[in-house]
Amino acid sequence: MEIRKSTESDLNDVLDVERQAFGNEKGPEIAELVNGLLIDPTAMPLLSLLAVNDVQAIGHILFTRAHIADSKNSVSSVILAPLAVIPEAQSQGVGAQLIKAGLRLLTDLGVELVFVLGHPEYYPRHGFKPAIGFEAPYPIPEIHANAWMVQELRPGVIDNAKGKVMCADILNKPEHWRE
Ligand SMILES: CC(C)(COP(=O)(O)OP(=O)(O)OC[C@H]1O[C@@H](n2cnc3c(N)ncnc32)[C@H](O)[C@@H]1OP(=O)(O)O)[C@@H](O)C(=O)NCCC(=O)NCCS
Repeated sequence: MEIRKSTESDLNDVLDVERQAFGNEKGPEIAELVNGLLIDPTAMPLLSLLAVNDVQAIGHILFTRAHIADSKNSVSSVILAPLAVIPEAQSQGVGAQLIKAGLRLLTDLGVELVFVLGHPEYYPRHGFKPAIGFEAPYPIPEIHANAWMVQELRPGVIDNAKGKVMCADILNKPEHWRE
């Protein structure tokens, strides 16, 4: 398997991975979200990575720009959304490798914080912890509060950055914040 940055010519593969991973119910909505984010100027700079095997694209991860509204210090932040692995390739470490590759590249780019709204049993395995002190773009119901997570890529940055996280316009809709 190879993980590489996706290009414009990968768009159909990217959207196909999203549809397959999220299934008939959520797939079309997530594919539309990704399609929009990839051209949303407020999402830039973004990082879009595709996992491919010998035959096909099997996984995709997208990180888009975020910022913290009322933080005293300017902190370089992104939101991880979505992560998708096609059903036949799940539970083989593809998701883990996409996260790892993404975090490595983001660290090199100087990104300091990565936020995610996702499975609270999955992301902590990859270094994420509850994003206490960071308000999500839309309120997360108390019952899902631990699904809103953060990881610092520069040690200590969390202590100096609290506030409301603002995301790209296309992601800034309540339906994308109902975990
Ligand atoms: C979630 C997802 C990206 C994980 O990708 P993956 O390549 O299968 O993940 P990995 O192989 O790195 O890790 C697999 C482990 O994660 C666990 N896992 C997968 N989905 C999980 C979930 N929803 N909640 C908790 N654990 C989960 C698996 O049980 C497995 O555990 P094991 O190693 O103990 O067997 C993939 O299952 C997927 O695309 N799901 C549908 C779309 C989705 O929900 N995306 C995440 C949005 S936040």
